[in-house]
Amino acid sequence: MTNLVKSAWIEGHRLRLRNATEADAAFIFGLRHDPERNRHMSATSPLLEDQRNWLARYAADGSQAYFIIESAAGHVPLGTVRLYDARDNSFCWGSWMLVPGAPAFAAIESALVVYCYALELGFTAAHFEVQEGNVAVSRFHENFGAVRIGQVNGQIQYTLGHERMLESLGRYRRFLPDGIRRGPLI
Ligand SMILES: CC(C)(COP(=O)(O)OP(=O)(O)OC[C@H]1O[C@@H](n2cnc3c(N)ncnc32)[C@H](O)[C@@H]1OP(=O)(O)O)[C@@H](O)C(=O)NCCC(=O)NCCS
Repeated sequence: MTNLVKSAWIEGHRLRLRNATEADAAFIFGLRHDPERNRHMSATSPLLEDQRNWLARYAADGSQAYFIIESAAGHVPLGTVRLYDARDNSFCWGSWMLVPGAPAFAAIESALVVYCYALELGFTAAHFEVQEGNVAVSRFHENFGAVRIGQVNGQIQYTLGHERMLESLGRYRRFLPDGIRRGPLI
């Protein structure tokens, strides 16, 4: 069983991921409640305080890693992504959101950073769900080689195996030419 350890920060090419803290509550709250972005996301509490409390519990939870996606230059917050639900050597990722107007490379690079980090932790596969109707995101994952394995409660379930993960990292190498560097594991 591989563990989903947090890292203080992970640097990619033009992006940097950093561990989310209570201080990020307002940013995350704004994104989760942005009608332009939250149509296919599960609803979160309308209280900012609940978001802050969630992040406080997250800090003490050794089973998930939640990152703020930032620009590498200037550390401008651009979105969020979360790794959770480790099952043997497969990890789940989601809570994936970018602010409206985020640069076009941010989606691909953040996905590649997630896969690189998970591989470093020892994972060899991924599983995740996409809401039925979130066609662009389904297409994104399918372009990465993810395979539909089922559909439950309006959620399409996907897996991505080791071979396809490595193949996509190679195919999209121009988006992450030097791999990742990371800070201490937390
Ligand atoms: C999910 C999310 C982070 C993805 O980001 P995104 O910017 O919409 O991703 P896109 O698929 O549009 O890809 C961004 C760019 O990379 C390009 N791209 C995507 N996949 C690519 C690929 N495999 N190869 C080359 N280019 C690719 C796209 O063409 C696009 O470029 P463009 O803007 O010039 O058209 C964003 O849509 C979001 O925040 N959505 C709301 C929340 C949500 O639904 N999250 C998912 C829950 S499962």
